Parts: sequence; C-alpha cells; structure tokens
Amino acid sequence: ESYSWFAEALLGWYPRHRRDLPWRHTRDPYLIWLSEVVLQQTRVRQGLPYYLTFSTTYPTVQALAAAPSDEVLRHWQGLGYYSRARNMHHTAQQVVAEFGGRFPASYAGLLQLKGVGQYTAAAVASFAYDEKVAVLDGNVYRVLARVFGLHHDIAAPASRKPFQLLADQLIPADHPAEFNQAIMEFGALQCTPAKPDCMFCPLQSRCFAFQHGLVAELPVKSKA
Ligand code: ADE
Ligand code: SF4
Repeated sequence: ESYSWFAEALLGWYPRHRRDLPWRHTRDPYLIWLSEVVLQQTRVRQGLPYYLTFSTTYPTVQALAAAPSDEVLRHWQGLGYYSRARNMHHTAQQVVAEFGGRFPASYAGLLQLKGVGQYTAAAVASFAYDEKVAVLDGNVYRVLARVFGLHHDIAAPASRKPFQLLADQLIPADHPAEFNQAIMEFGALQCTPAKPDCMFCPLQSRCFAFQHGLVAELPVKSKA
C-alpha cells in the first residue's frame, strides 16, 4: 500500500505552521548536532537560549573541544542532566581527535561517535546531509501510533522496530529533511499529548485514533 498521502499532508501543513528556529537555518552538522544535544528531553523554549549561548561561545567543533570542562558545565547550568554536557564535550573532542574536526558525513558514520545514538544520528544525517533516514522521538511515536493505530508500548525498546519500519516507508526520497522536521513539529504543535487539535487536523479523515475514538488511548506507554 502507498502511504504518500501522509507525507503530502505533513509537507502541506509544515510551511504554514513551522516555528522559525535558529538551527533550521543551517546545514552545518556541528550546529545541528549541538541543537539536538541541547534539545534532548528539553522543551524548545527552555533549550533555545542555551543553544544560542553554545553556538556563539563555541561556533565550531574545534572551539567546543578546546574549551575547559568547567566552562562548558557552567554554560550548561540550569539545563539538568549534566552527563549530557560531559558527553557533548567528549563527542566534540572525538570529532577533532579522530575525524579531523569534521563530522562523519553519513548516518552510519555518525553512529560511530560514542555519544551519538540512533535519534541524533538520524537528525544530523537528514537535516545536514538530506540522507533518507527517519527520526524517531517521542513526538514521532505519538503521531504514528495515533494515525496508524500502532498499539506497541512505546516504553518498550522492542517497539522501536515496527515504528522504524513504518517511518522508513513514510519518509519521501525527495524531501527527507523537511519530512523529519515536519513530523516532529506536527507532534509538538498539532498532535500534542494532552489536547491534540483534531478538529483542525489535515489527517483527521485518515487518522485511526480519531476515527476509532482512541486518541486518548494512543500511544500506549507503560509506566516505569
Ligand atoms: N526537539 C528536538 N529536536 C528538535 C528540532 N530540530 N526542532 C524542534 N524541536 C526539537
Ligand atoms: Fe493527531 Fe487528532 Fe490529527 Fe489524529 S486527528 S493526527 S490524533 S491531531
């Protein structure tokens, strides 16, 4: 079955709703990686000033790698999860020491970096290089679970596979970066956790959760 209606609806929605965010104006893999590290488990409103601080204080991966640890941690103060700051610093140093200061130019290459997982590798590869690899974060899980009626427990690591299989079918070869941005933004602004705007949703007529009255039930997420 062809799911092209999904990408078409999202890519129609996105330009009319997207927020103007600084990391969407660059294709520099370092700045995109920096934004994703700062935004992990953090809201855009909270992460934005930190992104601005880090990107201006350390405009290159060399600058970040060479900075003293205590200075990096000081700039991170207030964001929480300080291991993220330490991992960020280590990854920058690895890029300089082992990759000549250039981020690997593919998803597979980015995964070789110690602090970079599947989500971040997919985000950088698609946003910076337009590689066709689907991002999966909480927003994407929620949108896919609702629209396609996936009942897998999103807290279970084994659930990643069916979501990834579906997302890889949905991402269009001609607009991978825009599709990934669009589905994340759609989850953040339209198909939100508590009060999704189903009444004015371009996917309403094809949305499994809406059609079956299961919007509040999906995604399935076990506790602990
Ligand atoms: N949260 C994580 N990555 C993001 C991005 N690229 N844009 C907006 N919010 C995000
Ligand atoms: Fe999300 Fe509601 Fe739209 Fe379905 S109809 S995609 S649940 S906002």
